[in-house]
Amino acid sequence: MNEPKKKLALIGYGRMGRLVGELAPEHGFAVVLKLDEFNNENGAGMTAENFAGVDVAVDFSIPSVVADNAVRLAEMQTPVAIGATGWLDELDRVRAAVERHDAALVYGANFSVGVNAFYRIVEAAAKALAGQEEYDAFLYEAHHKFKVDAPSGTALRLLDAMREAGYARAVDVASNRVGHVPGTHEIGFDSAADTIRVTHAARSRVGFARGALKAARWIMGRKGLYEFSKIWDRL
Ligand SMILES: NC(=O)c1ccc[n+]([C@@H]2O[C@H](COP(=O)([O-])OP(=O)(O)OC[C@H]3O[C@@H](n4cnc5c(N)ncnc54)[C@H](OP(=O)(O)O)[C@@H]3O)[C@@H](O)[C@H]2O)c1
Repeated sequence: MNEPKKKLALIGYGRMGRLVGELAPEHGFAVVLKLDEFNNENGAGMTAENFAGVDVAVDFSIPSVVADNAVRLAEMQTPVAIGATGWLDELDRVRAAVERHDAALVYGANFSVGVNAFYRIVEAAAKALAGQEEYDAFLYEAHHKFKVDAPSGTALRLLDAMREAGYARAVDVASNRVGHVPGTHEIGFDSAADTIRVTHAARSRVGFARGALKAARWIMGRKGLYEFSKIWDRL
């Protein structure tokens, strides 16, 4: 017998929210709630009534509303996978709410498997070159012209990965917002003798959406706050 579909709430119904909604049935979800700027202005849609029976939420909204929505979800004990970026200056407030309410939250600047493998490749490169003073590092990222935050959340995560790997020198960062690029990230190391470049280029948004749905399945029934790059290979 088929398992009953899990009830999914979509917070943010733009490019990513719509795609997650389209792919949701393939991942065993039924979308029961869609919140956007019209029905969720100032968090008006984050009510216990709207979320009654919701098993999990996926948030692909905008940076300015993510943290308030996440705190509200924690209060309502609704697990959430947050794909929206540009809100990490509020991470401590969100973490405190998740802990206070014994709630569940997974967040990630990039839900694609390829990018999460790329983080590890970049870590290895940064570790190898950390002590090689003749190399300078750069990070370049490009996204479509509608993306509001820059540098991208993925770029910031890549910088963290380099620091965690022991690369302490400056990294020159550049962003383009142009056309319809779904997301390209490049890390480079340059010396007088040579250049090393490692690049990830997304071909579409499908990998992000499928990763978000997998993260949503994973977070149901768990407690605590998780960063996607630490758990993606356990999904
Ligand atoms: N983690 C990943 O793998 C991944 C992948 C791709 C993108 N992202 C991130 O996901 C986010 C969304 O990207 P996108 O391309 O889907 O952007 P988008 O098309 O602009 O979608 C965001 C949606 O949220 C809506 N919104 C505004 N206020 C809201 C509120 N109070 N409550 C709920 N929704 C509200 C926006 O409406 P209005 O436009 O009318 O304001 C818009 O429809 C961005 O931060 C992006 O960087 C992450």
